[in-house]
Amino acid sequence: MRLTKKMIAMALISGMVLSTAACGGGSSTTETTTAATEAAPAKEETTAAGEAETTAETAAEAVEGKDMSEVKVGISIYQFADNFMTLYREELQKYLTEELGVKSENISIMDGKNDQGEQMNQIRNFITQGYDVMIINLVQASSEPTVTEECNAAGIPVVYINREPEADREQAWVDEGIKATYVGADARQSGTYQGEEIVELENKGDADGDGVVRYIMVQGDPENVDAQYRTEFSVKALTDAGVEVEELVKMRGDWDQTKGQEITANALSQHGDKIDVVFCNNDAMALGALQAIEAAGRKVNEDIYLVGVDALVEVVEHVTNGNMTGTVFNDYFGQAHTAADKAMDFVNGADVDNVYMVDYVKVTPDNAAEILEKIK
Ligand code: GAL
Repeated sequence: MRLTKKMIAMALISGMVLSTAACGGGSSTTETTTAATEAAPAKEETTAAGEAETTAETAAEAVEGKDMSEVKVGISIYQFADNFMTLYREELQKYLTEELGVKSENISIMDGKNDQGEQMNQIRNFITQGYDVMIINLVQASSEPTVTEECNAAGIPVVYINREPEADREQAWVDEGIKATYVGADARQSGTYQGEEIVELENKGDADGDGVVRYIMVQGDPENVDAQYRTEFSVKALTDAGVEVEELVKMRGDWDQTKGQEITANALSQHGDKIDVVFCNNDAMALGALQAIEAAGRKVNEDIYLVGVDALVEVVEHVTNGNMTGTVFNDYFGQAHTAADKAMDFVNGADVDNVYMVDYVKVTPDNAAEILEKIK
């Protein structure tokens, strides 16, 4: 079966490193602790050994006995018009239905339309309609306390995805026994990988050989830790390697291809040949940057370098053909599967940690063909 083959393949590429806060994107101080233990058989101190066993058996039966097809899952994605989150959303739906046996009519997936008020209404509707669990890709990570409070009051667990809440909030879920968790990827790792892809070039990214790597930074939504960390850590990988850098332009492109194209076109007309490297916080913007680079008559990997994050099929093809320098695979298979699995764990009363991180994978011409085979 296609999905299963893909899943196995992805697990092989990424080593399927799932870890809790240990590699914590923004949550390095968060301890790996269980967020919700209420329904688990936590009564080991019971008087007789026999009684403790009975408790454990009852919980196991409850897990096995749950009819997955009846579970109602409410999902809200920050905005459907986002390339990466579209791949993620489709995988999430597929996995919930095909692998976990949730009925598709019991899964509601809403478009947050990049509007926190709109998303809040969707969440409140899920509460009113008695959904069993929610998977939420927040529009604004800063709204997490309100969302968690309302869901917790209604007894509905929440799996946050993609936009990470504050580390102290993740700890608060543990301290207060709130059924909430975050499933994501450590954006510091993706930023570092982007920088390393430049450092590993023979000229370390110094396309014009003048001793300084001058770059432009096309940022995602700067409120998003993914944008903050990728911006910081991509450059840090260069400076850590002793490369002298100069930032020519840093502008927000909100993860959007058209904005990526506009920002890069303006930067190229302002700074021309001085630009050695174009860093884009994601692939959609890198695709826009590539259009601008080609329109300006420049040639990637000859007189300019270009890197993104996500590993969209089109971008990996460009890496294979040498039209882009590299990207970083943002493992939406691993993230979607973990998010769905944890949602079901909550429903079944199993233990759930507060943070789960899925590894990124560097994509360069060396492994691009292999990655492409798996994601296509
Ligand atoms: C990032 C991804 C971007 C965009 C963003 C939305 O992880 O790389 O392409 O989807 O999430 O929050």
